[in-house]
Amino acid sequence: MRKNIKKAMVLLLSLSFLAGCGSSTYKEEKTEENTAEQSLVTVGFSQLGAESDWRNTNTISMQSTFTKENGYNLIYKNGQQKQANQITAIRTFIQQGVDYIVLAPETENGWDTVLGEAREADIPVILVDRRVNVSDKSLYSCWVGSDFELEGKKMAAWIKAYTEKMGMEPEDIHVVNIQGTIGSTAQIGRTRALANAARENGWDLLAEVSGDFTEAKGREVMAGLLKRFDNINVVYCENDNEAIGAIDAIESAGKRVGTNIHRGDIMVVSFDGVNEDSIQFCKDGKISCIAECNPHHGPRVEALIEALEDGETPEKFNYVDERMFSSVKAVTSVTVDGTLYKIEEPE
Ligand code: AHR
Repeated sequence: MRKNIKKAMVLLLSLSFLAGCGSSTYKEEKTEENTAEQSLVTVGFSQLGAESDWRNTNTISMQSTFTKENGYNLIYKNGQQKQANQITAIRTFIQQGVDYIVLAPETENGWDTVLGEAREADIPVILVDRRVNVSDKSLYSCWVGSDFELEGKKMAAWIKAYTEKMGMEPEDIHVVNIQGTIGSTAQIGRTRALANAARENGWDLLAEVSGDFTEAKGREVMAGLLKRFDNINVVYCENDNEAIGAIDAIESAGKRVGTNIHRGDIMVVSFDGVNEDSIQFCKDGKISCIAECNPHHGPRVEALIEALEDGETPEKFNYVDERMFSSVKAVTSVTVDGTLYKIEEPE
């Protein structure tokens, strides 16, 4: 199996280095190095952009996993938030004859043609984080990432449990949703979970507006929403960067952010739990609850590549377990679809 060759070559790389300290001639060293280089597994990684702290942490996880020392030659392309750039990157990977294509797609639609080209070239595609909506699921080998709708359901269950504990009536809950990038799996799942919960519980869902998963947009959108509505008391931000921007906008408008929603605070909840500022806000009660979204996918993608290298067929969909954080003591757990999730102190 190539994995074993890969490991042997990693050893060879180290040995050739050690030999270089001894008697090998320059030419011999170069030949050994070239052989080792050629035996690395080449991975083309199309990252969608750098919109959030989550995304940057995810990129670092991939880059620190797919190193030469681990037996990989990583070709990394940042799509700068444009699907067209990601499609170009995949076509370049195909021309370069990479061994694997790893794709973190910005949005779900529009991938059939280019993934068909990857299949024509016999290059396996692994999806990471978000998914694609293609007519033929065999266009990609497998996916690893979060259950975004479950994250949203857990958050909605927390809002319900907390507001009930505070003695609030459902119709007194006036929510706005600052959505992520429209058409991305994270946005679709989290938006759906809130919309369903609002309908089922009788909450007043005032507006859904995209903040594109960025702090700047979160701030801008929140400022606009505060001008449109004077009764907002829950802000559901589809990531932490948006929450940080929204908190700034609320405070700049002279309003109070906090957990005392029954006493006039505007309560902010969000997703990720990666950024130090958002964790601090969670400790301080400015973000009342965070549903974790785990970005450390590098080793998980590597495990999938190793399985494929060994001729195995990995599970098609690989979900990551995720936690809930809040410093509010009133709710200690939520139950979603029969599973209990403990609420943890932010660390
Ligand atoms: O797809 C995962 C989401 O994308 C994260 O929640 C968000 O922060 C990121 O930009």
